[in-house]
Amino acid sequence: MERKKVTLPEIQRKKEMGEPITMLTAYDVSIARAIDQVGIDMILVGDSYGMVVLGYDTTVSVTMDQMITAAQAVARGAKNPLLIGDLPFLSYQVDAREAIRNAGRFIQEANMDAVKLEGGREIAPTVRAITNAGIAVMGHIGLTPQSVSKLGGWRTQGTTAEAAHKLLDDALALQDAGAFSIVLEKVPERLAELVTQRLQIPTIGIGAGLHCDGQVLVTNDLLGLFDRFVPKFAKQYAKLYPIIVEAISEYKREVDARAFPAAEHTFSIKEDEWDAFLKSLTAPNETHTLPAFDEHADATRVY
Ligand code: KIV
Repeated sequence: MERKKVTLPEIQRKKEMGEPITMLTAYDVSIARAIDQVGIDMILVGDSYGMVVLGYDTTVSVTMDQMITAAQAVARGAKNPLLIGDLPFLSYQVDAREAIRNAGRFIQEANMDAVKLEGGREIAPTVRAITNAGIAVMGHIGLTPQSVSKLGGWRTQGTTAEAAHKLLDDALALQDAGAFSIVLEKVPERLAELVTQRLQIPTIGIGAGLHCDGQVLVTNDLLGLFDRFVPKFAKQYAKLYPIIVEAISEYKREVDARAFPAAEHTFSIKEDEWDAFLKSLTAPNETHTLPAFDEHADATRVY
C-alpha cells in the first residue's frame, strides 16, 4: 500500500481518535529506512545519539553539528515518518534568537519537519519564539537528560504531590506556548495518564506507562545493541549485540583460516587476457606505458 508522509494534523488526528502514535529514534540511514518501511509515525533524531552512538556518558556533550550530520543521514533514509531533530544542550538555552537559528538549521540543512527541546514553564517563551518562526516544536518534560546533574541522577520525576503539580503545569505551559506534542519521560503511570487527559495535544511516553497517546523508545535499546545497562523502561525486542559479536568472530575465524573470501566473493580475468598480460610483462629495467584505467563493471557498491 502506498504510504503518505505523516503530518502534524495526522498526529493530532490520532490523539483525537484515540489511535496510538508510534515514535522511535534513529541516527543513520539504515535504521531510518527500516523504521520507515514498518510505518512508524515519527522518527526522533534524539541527542541520545551522543550516548548510544558516540559513546559519551551523558547527552550534554553532543554538538549541533553532530546532530545535523545524524539528521541528514536519517532524512536520506526515511521519507514518510514525521522527522524531529532534537536540539542539543546549549543550542536553545542561551537566548531565543540562537534557539530559532539552531531550530532552523534542522529544517534548512537536514530536512527535519520539527524540533524537540527539554524543559517546562521556564522554556515556554523559547517554544513560543520558535513556533512563531514557523517551526513545529515537541516538548520534553519529566526526566530531562540534559539536566541530569541538576535532577540528581536518572531518577523518576513527579513522584511527590508538589512535583506532580509542577509537571502538569509545565505540560500546560508548553501547550499554551504552541508545542504540538510533549514527551513524558520516566514519570509515574497515573500522572502521565492524568496529564494526557488534560492536554489537547498528544503525549509521547518513555517510561510513562500505557496511557500516553504514543510511545517512544531509543531504537538501540529496542534492538539490544548493547552489552551494557538497559533502562527498566526499555524493552529489548531483539538482542543483536551477541549476534554482532558472533558474526565478527566468524569473520575473524575465516580470515585467519584463509577461508574468506571464497570464490563467490572473488573476481576473475579471462584466460586470454591474463596470458596477454603475462606476455606483455617486461624485464624490470625496461620501460612500458600503463593501460588506461578501466572503470570496474560491478560498481554498484564500491567503497
Ligand atoms: O534523545 C532521545 O532519544 C530522547 C528520547 C528518549 C525521547 O529524547
